Amino acid sequence: MAQRPSSPEELAQWTEVDRYLEGVVGASDPALEATLRATRDAGMPEIQVAPLQGKMLHLLARAVGARRILEIGLLGGYSTTWLARALPPDGRLVSLELSERHAAVAKANLARAGVADRVEIRVGPALASLVALAAEGGPPFDLAFIDAEKREYPEYLAAAVDLLRPGGVIVADNVVRRGDITDRASADPSVVGVRKMYDDLRRNRRITATVVQTVGAKGYDGFLLAVVGPPARSGAPSRPGRRSPPAES
Ligand code: DHB
Ligand code: MG
Repeated sequence: MAQRPSSPEELAQWTEVDRYLEGVVGASDPALEATLRATRDAGMPEIQVAPLQGKMLHLLARAVGARRILEIGLLGGYSTTWLARALPPDGRLVSLELSERHAAVAKANLARAGVADRVEIRVGPALASLVALAAEGGPPFDLAFIDAEKREYPEYLAAAVDLLRPGGVIVADNVVRRGDITDRASADPSVVGVRKMYDDLRRNRRITATVVQTVGAKGYDGFLLAVVGPPARSGAPSRPGRRSPPAES
């Protein structure tokens, strides 16, 4: 099917619903607003997650009782703030960011939001930082949020699986891209990267995943949700083509 951008009418409706639901669930406050404003004023791209999805990340982190969170892609620290707020006072969020300038803006935002003490920013190429994290052999992470270079999603996913504990949760943003991901002929490096991640996912025996398509003020996209570890022995469906472990009596 040919890809098309969302129409202005669709976008207006999705935006109206976003704003309504943000009010219902409480997906904004002065610190988060200030972060968005400062990020915009710094001339940075306004590609952070939507408020409702920021709160989703926060709730997922709480649901798994996260004490250590890995974020790949800091930008202005908006999702970082949502995630860090889910941590206990002695919890830790490590966020990877390529740009020194973005990191400086985020640092001020995180300080203003009162979560800077729980966030460690590592500036540099994410792949290098992930290699360093693995080499350091620190305690495993409970949750990883992937939201940086789409071309590198296959490597991010593999690294996240290695760095998370069994039962750890992975969320990856922007894995539908207006539907472009079904275009196998696409030369868009982001689409090629995300499709490669899906190819890896088909073969990966260490995670089980789903993808949720989303619409909203930011248009049509989606996120990957995965859990590390083998599927539950009963209840959860096994992957097609995968043999279930033998039943025990
Ligand atoms: C882009 C990146 C994102 O992480 C996002 O949420 C939206 C857009 C981009 O690179 O265009
Ligand atoms: Mg994103």
